[in-house]
Amino acid sequence: MPQWTWEYTGYVPTEERLRESLLTLGNGYFATRGAAPETVADDVHYPGTYAAGCYNRLVSQVSGRHIENEDMVNLPNWLPLRFRVRTEDGSAAWFSPDTDELLDHRLVLDLRGGNLTRRLRYEDAEGRRMRVDQCRLVHMGDPHLAALRTEFTPEGWSGEVEVESALDGEVTNAGVHRYRDLAGSHLARMHTGAVEPDTVWLRCHTSGSGIGIGMASRTTVTGATPVASRLHIAPRRVAHTLHIPVSPGAPATVDKVVALHTSHDPAIGDPLDAALGDVAAAPGFAGLLESQRAVWEQLWRRAELDVPGEAGAILRLHLFHVLQTLSPHTADLDVGVPARGLHGESYRGHVFWDELFVLPFLNLHFPGVSRALLDYRHRRLPQACKMAAESGRAGAMYPWQSGSDGREETQILHLNPRSGRWLPDHSRLQHHVGSAVAYNVWQYCEATGDTGFLQTKGAEMMLQIARFWADSAAFDPGLGRYRIRGVVGPDEYHDAYPDAAGPGLDDNAYTNVTAAWVLGRALDLVRDLPEPRRRELFEHIGVTDGEPERWEDVSRRLHVPFHRDVISQFEGFGDLEELDWEGYRERYGDIRRLDRILEAENDTVNRYQASKQADVLMLGYLFSPAELAGLFRRLGYEFGSELWHRTVDYYVHRTSHGSTLSGLVHGWVLARERRAGAWSFVREALEGDVADLQGGTTGEGIHLGAMGGTLDLVQRGLTGLETRDDALWLDPVPLPELSEYGFSLRYRGHWGVDLRLRHGRLRIEVPASPEPPIRVVLAGRSIMVAPGESVALRLPYG
Ligand code: BGC
Repeated sequence: MPQWTWEYTGYVPTEERLRESLLTLGNGYFATRGAAPETVADDVHYPGTYAAGCYNRLVSQVSGRHIENEDMVNLPNWLPLRFRVRTEDGSAAWFSPDTDELLDHRLVLDLRGGNLTRRLRYEDAEGRRMRVDQCRLVHMGDPHLAALRTEFTPEGWSGEVEVESALDGEVTNAGVHRYRDLAGSHLARMHTGAVEPDTVWLRCHTSGSGIGIGMASRTTVTGATPVASRLHIAPRRVAHTLHIPVSPGAPATVDKVVALHTSHDPAIGDPLDAALGDVAAAPGFAGLLESQRAVWEQLWRRAELDVPGEAGAILRLHLFHVLQTLSPHTADLDVGVPARGLHGESYRGHVFWDELFVLPFLNLHFPGVSRALLDYRHRRLPQACKMAAESGRAGAMYPWQSGSDGREETQILHLNPRSGRWLPDHSRLQHHVGSAVAYNVWQYCEATGDTGFLQTKGAEMMLQIARFWADSAAFDPGLGRYRIRGVVGPDEYHDAYPDAAGPGLDDNAYTNVTAAWVLGRALDLVRDLPEPRRRELFEHIGVTDGEPERWEDVSRRLHVPFHRDVISQFEGFGDLEELDWEGYRERYGDIRRLDRILEAENDTVNRYQASKQADVLMLGYLFSPAELAGLFRRLGYEFGSELWHRTVDYYVHRTSHGSTLSGLVHGWVLARERRAGAWSFVREALEGDVADLQGGTTGEGIHLGAMGGTLDLVQRGLTGLETRDDALWLDPVPLPELSEYGFSLRYRGHWGVDLRLRHGRLRIEVPASPEPPIRVVLAGRSIMVAPGESVALRLPYG
């Protein structure tokens, strides 16, 4: 299996949307789906271009209610390039893969070089054959540039090709079938025009958020001289038409270089002026292709990941898409981690807790990017505090879904496509998202040693999130413990008790244990802050004298429910009915979306012990066994490997894996437990998007959390790597199907620390630098590895 390319041969209309997502090109600033340039949005094709953080709100009428949604906006399409062989009367139809006879069709995503090539041969209605070679890129060096080259080679005839190169503003957000009843026209005040001889432009604004968008495109021809060239300026579309003579020995090449700016960009006056300036100054296609390769080479060095075989090829694709969504350019943007990348419109470009699966990976390669993503959360801390206050609580309540300004963006109703019913959506009760933010603050600071951040923005977030938990916890004298009630855990299929009047569950173990962890870390932080800063911080956010004592108390006495000698997902989980898993599998085959199946049967998952995804088991994803045992001990509970073992078994048999995050977490937890069965889950996580395991959802955008998580599975899951107490801690576990790997890390001031596992030996190499040696702890042994040195350690299990 090729390690540096991702390829598709042939043309399969039903797979087109999936390929478009997986062949998306982007640079963190914007991304464009891998749609064929000659197509427009229809049942088969969905071209889409999205700029990070470019959102707009619209109101729709659904089920008799006004529903407001904020969406990541599908921007004008810069790709359009259609062609046909000229006939005297202009009667020939434009080429289409859906109507012309395709002789060959091949798409190759070159991961190393950051470009997508397409080779096709077709025969038109008149029996003329032509070969068309295309190559496109979205530039990683200059984040405002993209380019498309098209080369026409006639086979056995000479004549004229008519080419139309356009910017198309006739686009809406229509990429997700389930949202079809919702409003999708986000672009207003559209203007188009041209700068002779070769440039066209388009400017518009998002209708409500008023973000200005400027796009310009320069189209040039080499290898032939166009015999005619015409401009078509329509209100929402602008195009150049060129008539180009071609013959077999003289192919013609059409290059389109495009620039995109928005009014969010720093250091520009007007987006359109900036775009016009960029295309005028941009080098030709060949120059862009070369510089693109050079920038990607640097990125690959900073995020090197070598795993042999098919798993390695998929991991590299995952890394490619993570880097295209969150690139070094992200460090200059005010954006979060969009759950579906910049690759499609599912979940409207919203930011959930998925950064929990992505930042720990980025911390050790692109700490500046992680920091910017945490800054996104910090800028929205006032909004999170406002939301907590509105719900009568102290501290910060981060929204389950976040977009532009940090307000709660979770939809109020969602559609069950199986039953056709719009249903209330209570997933906003997943307040555990706050703990994910805190966890990432802590992990980032541990990995980078960025005490400046920890003591300022990091501390503000940690303390406000801790406060929220302390204030959400109510003391139950009967239990002698604190309880957090009315929440939803990561398993969002359970959002209420059966027959309860309102939504929400009590004592979700994941929520409570992570809350206890946040409170504990906040106390550590308060203890370790330099006194003047502690005072300043307490004054700034108004911490009263008694508060830290309350945090301490809550962190030690939060309730964690148990039943049948396992940790309960929430209080009462064990009293729910058992689902007839076999029966449902037999009846429905794929039961990942058990929520939809049961609702369509007028039933509800709330009645059953059946989880959507890892919930309790998430604890084993976030914490090492020692840390987890410490957390439970601090809460006054016995926690041994037997209990964890039983708990893992219990939930493995009661989870439907309706989220791509589920296979990842199960794979990780089972691998850390050295249990058989780990690989089948890891495999599921690897194949989630490339094989579209969630039944058609990848075409609506990749699953960034699962992609980032699989990278982290190698980096931290298999190695047991932890960055704490100023050392790298390693505790590798064997996974026979993934027994060889190598990657390089940026740890503190060390760039390119190389870790490589082969034949049961782990080699660590620290590149020469004036930095201090790194302390590595493995199997209780602590060793110092100096810059310029390497050590090889035999693994305890090897
Ligand atoms: C999962 C969530 C996740 C969201 C976005 C949902 O299906 O249940 O845990 O945050 O997708 O990826």
